[in-house]
Amino acid sequence: MYGRRYPAGPYVMALGVAVVIYAAIYLGQLMWPAEGRPLSWNPLSAGIQLATGEATWPPGATVLLLVAVFAVAVLLAVLVRRSSKSPAQAPRGMTEFERRVNAGANTRRIQERERRAEMRHLHPDAEIAEAGVQVGRALDRARGWVLQSYRQCSAHIWGPGRGKTLTQVVRHAFHAPGAYVMTSNKTDGVRYVLAGRALRYPAGRVWLFDPDRIFRAGERPAFTIDLLSTVTDSKSAEKLASVFASAAPNAHQTGGDAQFDPQGREFLAWCMLAAATAGKPLRQVHLWVSEGNTTDPAEILRDAGYSGPVAALRGLAKQPERTRGSVFATAQRMASAMVHDHIMAWATATPGVPAFDPAVFVTSNDTLILLTQEKAGPLAAFVSGLVTQISHAAVAEAGRHSSERLPVPMIMDLDECGNVVTLPDLPDWYTHFGSKGIIINSYFQSPAQGEATYGRDRFMQLWDAAGIRVYGGGIDNEPWLRALSDLIGTYEKTNVSTTTSQGNKSQSESTQQQARATVAELANLPEWRAIVRTSNGVSVVVETVPVFQDPEFAEVMRAGNSIGVIE
Ligand SMILES: Nc1ncnc2c1ncn2[C@@H]1O[C@H](COP(=O)(O)OP(=O)(O)O)[C@@H](O)[C@H]1O
Ligand SMILES: [Mg+2]
Repeated sequence: MYGRRYPAGPYVMALGVAVVIYAAIYLGQLMWPAEGRPLSWNPLSAGIQLATGEATWPPGATVLLLVAVFAVAVLLAVLVRRSSKSPAQAPRGMTEFERRVNAGANTRRIQERERRAEMRHLHPDAEIAEAGVQVGRALDRARGWVLQSYRQCSAHIWGPGRGKTLTQVVRHAFHAPGAYVMTSNKTDGVRYVLAGRALRYPAGRVWLFDPDRIFRAGERPAFTIDLLSTVTDSKSAEKLASVFASAAPNAHQTGGDAQFDPQGREFLAWCMLAAATAGKPLRQVHLWVSEGNTTDPAEILRDAGYSGPVAALRGLAKQPERTRGSVFATAQRMASAMVHDHIMAWATATPGVPAFDPAVFVTSNDTLILLTQEKAGPLAAFVSGLVTQISHAAVAEAGRHSSERLPVPMIMDLDECGNVVTLPDLPDWYTHFGSKGIIINSYFQSPAQGEATYGRDRFMQLWDAAGIRVYGGGIDNEPWLRALSDLIGTYEKTNVSTTTSQGNKSQSESTQQQARATVAELANLPEWRAIVRTSNGVSVVVETVPVFQDPEFAEVMRAGNSIGVIE
């Protein structure tokens, strides 16, 4: 949004002024020459002539020089007026606060040059236009982008309306070099993501998962997913069951007893394993769990040689009636999302409806948009299951390459993360997904929201494991802001005090350690400013640029605004 500043500017201007002076003097001499010898055309000789009195100053030169000075003054006045009329266009200086936080921060380490070198090293065979994931612009004169590298995951805490969607998600979608996943519980950014991806990858496919019909009008699913396809052994069955368990209402919410949670989850897992083994749909899992049927899954698993799960199922069948009932009730609570037919329609293979294949997706330029209601409810299990499935497919794909990295990075923006997905493994993913080229960015409205979803320790683990941590303002949580202020650190403030005693003034200097960013300054972070902290010790204030103010996105905005209802 800011014109590049050419360092040649001052030289060009100086040359221009010299040319005008030269032209004024010699044109003036032609118009109204002085008596005697004319001035030499060589400025150096002319200077000597004037100094030695060999020639006299032509009166015409004085007249034309005055005219030129007047013209330049008028031109400057016009330029100054024009630039003050559009302050938004001109790079403004940093505030005292921004200078204080950014002083000494080595922001270049996270900008274009370094990131491009890193990107070439990580993805030597891929053609990637952007050197990294755009977070915000540096506040120095050059206003270059501060970039997240293609081996870093990021975690964001920004209050509502601070620009998570319009300064980050839409921007990332447009620039993502390969497959792109976003979650959301609103339609706000979705039309711009759709437009951006269509402009960028006309041949790429868009998968809009929208069982709640937030954006689509059509009754029929746009495509179907097969959550059981990742269930290949007892461990992966437990994983999928735990995704459903985390998304389901907990025992306290339903007045049940959490004591049976582990057994209920196991029962659900063995039903999932049996259905996957026998090639049966997810509906079958719901049937077995609802009936409390241990016999049929046990039979399938026995034939497939899963002796552990078979023993567990048989043991459960021999439990006292009351215990069994409680375990079944727990499993039913955990599988409760499967009762909704409109959601299950998206999770059941149907002739004529395309099937989504995570393994193909992670190597494509496709876009997957996962939409839910304000609070995801039962859909959270499916959205989380699908995100988990894609993550596993990406890990498997990365493992096929000697670099153990996706050849082209995949970007996943988990917008409205606290409302939309319940991914029990997300904090663990943060520790190793970046190095595999799986770039996860998760966005929380507040630290409390993150802690409510993952628990305090696990959320802290996620935050600490993120290579890039962004605070986008709008938070009043005093202890959290104080911790952030402490992390940003202190500077030495010099105080000069003047004392007067017996008519003699004396000055003394003292230094004091003060916070670079106080709690109040962090709480009141101005609009379109964010604090970026990296795991390698950079803390800077950046400008976040909403797409509606970015000329590069004008076409995306125009195309997005014209998207109507999708059938
Ligand atoms: N076209 C626009 N012009 C000006 N402001 C806008 C426009 N569209 C959205 N906004 C504002 O931009 C801000 C950022 O919005 P958004 O990115 O959706 O925030 P978040 O995702 O953090 O809730 C909001 O305050 C919103 O009111
Ligand atoms: Mg948003």
